[in-house]
Amino acid sequence: SKGTYEFYMLKEIDEQPSVMRRLSKEYFNDDADVKVDANIVQSVAQSDRIYILAAGTSYHAGLVGKNIIEKYTDIPVEVGIASEFGYHFPKLSKKPFFIFLSQSGETADSRVVLKQVNQLGLPSLTITNVAGSTLSREATYTMLLKAGPEIAVASTKAYTAQVAVQAILAKAVGEYLKIAAAIDFDLKRQLALVAEGMQEIVDGKEKINSLAKKYLATTRNAFYIGRGVDYAVALEGALKLKEVSYIQTEGFAAAELKHGTIALIEKGVPVVTLINDPATADLTRGNIQEVESRGANVITIVAKKFAKATDDIILPDVDYYLSPLVTVVPAQLLAYYASKNKGLDVDKPRNLAKSVTVE
Ligand code: F6R
Repeated sequence: SKGTYEFYMLKEIDEQPSVMRRLSKEYFNDDADVKVDANIVQSVAQSDRIYILAAGTSYHAGLVGKNIIEKYTDIPVEVGIASEFGYHFPKLSKKPFFIFLSQSGETADSRVVLKQVNQLGLPSLTITNVAGSTLSREATYTMLLKAGPEIAVASTKAYTAQVAVQAILAKAVGEYLKIAAAIDFDLKRQLALVAEGMQEIVDGKEKINSLAKKYLATTRNAFYIGRGVDYAVALEGALKLKEVSYIQTEGFAAAELKHGTIALIEKGVPVVTLINDPATADLTRGNIQEVESRGANVITIVAKKFAKATDDIILPDVDYYLSPLVTVVPAQLLAYYASKNKGLDVDKPRNLAKSVTVE
């Protein structure tokens, strides 16, 4: 039930720290050793390329997962939009392994791909919130998100759970393959830091509400920009904002704006800017200046180690590859407040259903 919450979306955003702690309990033993079904670990470790298929927010979680899995396993990863992949298979590698990300486990676009993967006799893993769902039953293996029922149409806690479970899988496979980065990766500790960081952000939600009131109350369009994993989060932040507030929002790789889309920047256009990537933090600061000098209202969401006094939202420092777990929370909250302050039904945006069972 919603309890004292007006909308499920906020309840589900607030639950994310406890989802991280639950995943940590579920997938680690007391000695901080990662615990993933050995058959899954071996099957992934034997593959020469991982294909992640999903739709919408789950696809965005896959984009983050690619970065994490490549970093900690050294196995190349391709991420596909299920509806495109299903009718235009790329040339597959010799030993592919397929991962399906789906909160509901019922998404028709993903089912089309899995059917073909099964016809080819190839191994697959569904990462889902729903035990016994179709994608779970039809895949070789399943890992559960343990996020608890997600009721709001806009996905929040399932996204962060999907990112975390992919990290858990990466840690297990990387250790099995004796990849130094995976062995040294104290994921259990990092997930605890992430949970604390998420809690800090949800405790400061009124600050995010005031940013939404100041910048998102009347605007008709908005942008999200970021580089590296922040680019993936920019896509998710934009989807979240547009689907619940109806503000037309685009997520961009920060440097791409100047290749055309900067023409749309004019006085008052909000540009939410994400900065976690050590390799590009300064470059993204430069992109902020480009849009600010054209009148944009920039909202900065920045990791503590790169933050300046003038930044709007300062993120607690966590491992760069896991930073999407905290960066996405203010983005979810901005979307929530932009919608609620307009008097919209946050949990049931128009034209949408919770699970999309048609192609
Ligand atoms: C957006 C959203 C959708 C779903 C997409 C896939 O907030 O919820 O984009 O992520 O329809 O759904 P699942 O994960 O159930 O396959």
